[in-house]
Amino acid sequence: MTESTKSGPTTLSASPATTFPATDSPTVDAPATTFPQDRACPYHPPTGYAPLREARPLARVTLFDGRPAWLVSGHAVARELLADPRLSTDREHADFPSPNERFARIRKRGTALLGVDDPRHNTQRRMLIPSFSVKRIAALRPRVQETVDRLLDAMEAQGPPAELVNAFALPVPSMVICALLGVPYADHDHFEESSRRLLRGPTVEDTQAARDELDDYFYALIDRKRREPGDGLLDELIHRQLAEGKVDRKELVGLATILLVAGHETTANMISLGTFTLLQHPERLAELRADLGAGRPLAPAVVEELLRYLSIADGLLRLVKEDIEIAGSTLRAGDGVVFSTSLINRDDAAYASPDELDWHRGASHHLAFGFGVHQCLGQNLARMELEIALGSLFGRLPGLRLAAPAEEIPFKPGDTIQGMLELPVSW
Ligand code: HEM
Repeated sequence: MTESTKSGPTTLSASPATTFPATDSPTVDAPATTFPQDRACPYHPPTGYAPLREARPLARVTLFDGRPAWLVSGHAVARELLADPRLSTDREHADFPSPNERFARIRKRGTALLGVDDPRHNTQRRMLIPSFSVKRIAALRPRVQETVDRLLDAMEAQGPPAELVNAFALPVPSMVICALLGVPYADHDHFEESSRRLLRGPTVEDTQAARDELDDYFYALIDRKRREPGDGLLDELIHRQLAEGKVDRKELVGLATILLVAGHETTANMISLGTFTLLQHPERLAELRADLGAGRPLAPAVVEELLRYLSIADGLLRLVKEDIEIAGSTLRAGDGVVFSTSLINRDDAAYASPDELDWHRGASHHLAFGFGVHQCLGQNLARMELEIALGSLFGRLPGLRLAAPAEEIPFKPGDTIQGMLELPVSW
C-alpha cells in the first residue's frame, strides 16, 4: 500500500517537520515524487515534498495510479496558471488527474462548479454570488456569534475535557451552512457522515454509496421544499432558477452538494487544526490572547496567516487543454497538473521565513482559497466563521490546552483535505 492510498489516521511524528531535509540538487528531471503524501506534522507540508520544494516552481510527480503529472509549487507560476483558461477543471474528462482511487471513480459522476469549465461554470457561479457577497455574509455575523456562543455554553456546562471536533469545530460551520442553504440542521448526523465518507470513506464502494445517499437526500429535500418553501439559498434556487428552467434538478442537487460539503468540512478542519496549531505555538498564542482582551484588532491577520500556514486544501487539480510554455517547461495538452497550496504558500520568493507562523507578515495574497475563476466562493463566510470561532474559543476558555500528548492526537491522511480527526482539550 502506498502513502497516497492510505485512509487511516496519522499522528505527529516524534520529531515534527519544522524544516525540510537537504536534498541532492533535485531537478525537474529527478525521479518523480509521489503525490499526495501524508503530513508528518499536521501543520507542515509532508517531509517527502522536499524535492518538490527544491525544484520550485514546477516538478513532475507520480499519482496513485502511476500516472505522471506536473506539480506546481511556486507562488507566481501558480497564480499565472490558475488564471489560464487553457487549464480545465472538467473532472469527467478521461484524462483528468486523480489523487486517489476514490476520486477517480466518483469524478465521472460530475461535480458542480469545481468540476465544470466556463461557460457553464460561470452560469452556475453567477446564480450563487449574491448570497456570498461581503454584505450578505456580514449580515450573518450575529447569527454565527450566537451559534458559537451556544456551543461554548454547552461545552462549559458539560465541563472539561471535551472532544473539540465534535463539540465545536464541526457543528459551527455545519449549523451556519445549514441556515444559509435552508437545510434542516436536524439532518446533520446524516449528511455529516455522508460527507465524511464521500471525502474519505474506507472503500471506494462506500464513497460511491455516500454520494448516492447525498443525492437521494437532496432530491427528497428539493421536492419537500417545492411544496413547503423556506427562506434559504436552496429555496431561492428552487423557486427562481429551477422554476424558470435555468437549472434542472440534477444540477441543483450538484450545487447543493458542493455547497454543503465544501461549506462545513473545510472550515471545520481550519477550526480544529487552527486550534491545535495555536496551542503548539505558545508565544503566538499569548499574543493572540492579549489581542482578544484589546478588542481583537489582529483577528483578520491571524486568520489569513493560519490559512496560509495550514493550507488545508493541499492539491488543486487541473487538466491541460492546449500546450502551455511556462517556467522553461512545456505543459502538453492532456497532462495533469496539481497545485500544492502548502508548498505554494511557503514559497520563500513570496514570504520571508515561510515556515514560521507570523501574522505580522500580511499574508493576504496566499492561495489557500485558490485563485482565478474557481477561487473559493465561500471565502468571506469562512473568514468570518474562523474569526468568530477561534476568537470566542480562546477568549471564553483562557486555560484551553490539549488533553492528550500532541503526538497521540490523530489527524487526517494526506489524500484529502487536512485537519484533525479528534482534538481532546481541557481548560
Ligand atoms: C477555510 C475554509 C475553506 C477553504 C480553505 C476553502 C478552499 C477552497 C479552495 C482552495 C477552492 C478552489 C479549488 C480549486 O480551484 O480547485 C475552493 C472552492 C470552492 N469553495 Fe471553498 N474553502 C473553504 C470554505 C468554503 C465555504 C465555507 C464554502 C461555502 C459554501 C465554500 C465553497 C466553495 C465552492 C462552492 C467552491 C468552488 C468554486 C468554483 O468552482 O467556482 N468553501 N475552496
